[in-house]
Parts: sequence; C-alpha cells; structure tokens
Amino acid sequence: MSNIASNPPTDAAAALLGDLRAARRGAVALPALQPDSYARDHAAFEQLSDQRDLIADHLAGRLGGMGDGPMSVLSVGCGDGSLDVRLAEGLLRAVPGRPVRYVGIDPWSGSAELFTAEMSALEADELSVDVHVSSFADAPMDETFDVVVFVHSIYYVSDVGESLRGALDLLRPGGELWVLVAPRAALNALVDVLAPPLEDHRQWFSNDVHEAFLDARITLDDVVTLDALVDLASSSDEALDFAVQARLTAELRGPVRAYLDAVSVPGADGGHRVPHPVDVFSTTRH
Ligand SMILES: C[S@@+](CC[C@H](N)C(=O)[O-])C[C@H]1O[C@@H](n2cnc3c(N)ncnc32)[C@H](O)[C@@H]1O
Repeated sequence: MSNIASNPPTDAAAALLGDLRAARRGAVALPALQPDSYARDHAAFEQLSDQRDLIADHLAGRLGGMGDGPMSVLSVGCGDGSLDVRLAEGLLRAVPGRPVRYVGIDPWSGSAELFTAEMSALEADELSVDVHVSSFADAPMDETFDVVVFVHSIYYVSDVGESLRGALDLLRPGGELWVLVAPRAALNALVDVLAPPLEDHRQWFSNDVHEAFLDARITLDDVVTLDALVDLASSSDEALDFAVQARLTAELRGPVRAYLDAVSVPGADGGHRVPHPVDVFSTTRH
C-alpha cells in the first residue's frame, strides 16, 4: 500500500517553508510555466531524477502481465511522448507482430507533435498512433482501450472524479486505469506555496486523487509508491522552476534551494537528493 501521507518535515525545513510562505503572502502570483517551454523544462527536471526509469520499468511490467494479444493504450497528458515511446517499444518487442494501438491526448500542440514524432521514429507497421490536441474533458473519443494511463497529468484536470469516471468509460471490460501522481510531500509543499493557481483549481496531489476514487466508489486494485530521488543541488534554473511549477525570481532561488537542501536525504553516492515519490493508483473495469 502507498505511503500517501507525507513524512513530517524537520523543524529546519518547516521554518524555511514558513519563511517562503511569509515572503509570498499578499504578493502578486509568480508567472506560470509556459506551454512552449513546458516539455523542455520537464525534460531538464527528469534528467536529474531516477523516477522516469522506475515508472517505465513499473508500467512495462504491468503491460507485460496483460497477455500477448493486440494491445491498445490511451495516454492522457502524454506530453512529448518520451515515456510512452518506451512503453510502445516494449509492447512491440515483447510480442513481435502484434498490433499495438497507442493514442495520446495533450492540450499543447507542440507536445502532441513531439509525441507523434517519437512514435513515428519506431517505424513499426503494426503500431497505429493518434494524438488529440485537447484537454481530457474535451477530447473527442470514440474507441475503447485496454489501458488508460495518466502519468503526472491529473494535477491539471478541472474535476478529478469526473476524469476518473470518464477514463473508466474508455476502457473495455477487463481494461485497466493507472493514475500516476505525486503526493504532496516535501517537494510539492513548494508547489502549494509558489505555483500560481491553475484556471479554476489548485494542483491535485495523491490525497485528492485517493479521495476522488473513494467518492466515486471506484474500487482500487492497488496503490503502489515508487520511491524516486531527484538531484536538485546544482540544478539549472529551468529544472528548479519546473520543480516548483512557477518562474522563480532571482531572490527566491536561494531560499528555495536552502529548503530543498533541508529536506534532502543521502543518495547512493552520498550526495544530497530530494525525495521524489510517485503513487500509482490502479483499477480494473469490470
Ligand atoms: C508533467 S507533464 C507529463 C507528460 C507525460 N505524461 C510524461 O510523463 O512525460 C503533464 C502533461 O499534462 C498535460 N495536460 C495539462 N492539462 C491537461 C488536461 N486537462 N488534460 C490532459 N492533459 C493535460 C500537459 O500539457 C503536460 O504535457
């Protein structure tokens, strides 16, 4: 079962976060990350983390347990497709010749184009790919899937419960819904303090998703936590901005780095790493 509750911060970390909160109180919201640079900032951040590999291995294992037949996957908030292409490639390699259908949804056309380019580079005749440039709520879907997966995208939907129900409706009987979302732990406490509000809601984290599953009376098969670490000690400004989901000012970078240092744990090489867990919620359509 997931450790959905975050560990309590140390006194020093709590004090540094409190200072940041006080510095931001009443201030004009920081600028949001922009669509045209979002995928690049995200890539810069993920390069510092071992989470991508943990997610790719975990999801490939789940896909591998779903048999050798044709497979269809819908990736909601597919971004640049850098994760999906690994999953598609694994599906094709595991069972040569089997038909694989892979569909992405992303509201940003630049990301959708990158998704299509990644998939095209596989040059596989048995792979059929489509992408919808749309929010999930507005995507014109007229097919069902073996798997619907949200990887780090449910933060942005307007209504989590509606999205979960909508995703279940897009599964064939026996199909699986996987929602990967971060807990509001040490790292995302910064998002709460620094990120500008989304259009009509704050960012949702694991607790919100868990509650939405319960409220919608959708039975979970399991919730698994992948315990990743991210090296933000000497990160670029872009990676730091992605971590807090806002364009930081020069004055804020020092206090943000001090807080990240205070919540760090030793990595395998002894260097400072920030815990970067992700929870995987899964359910099956019966
Ligand atoms: C952190 S990125 C994750 C991208 C990709 N799944 C990955 O793991 O590399 C979140 C993505 O969700 C997309 N997104 C934002 N709002 C969305 C919505 N309402 N419906 C679907 N996708 C959305 C963003 O454009 C972005 O590409």
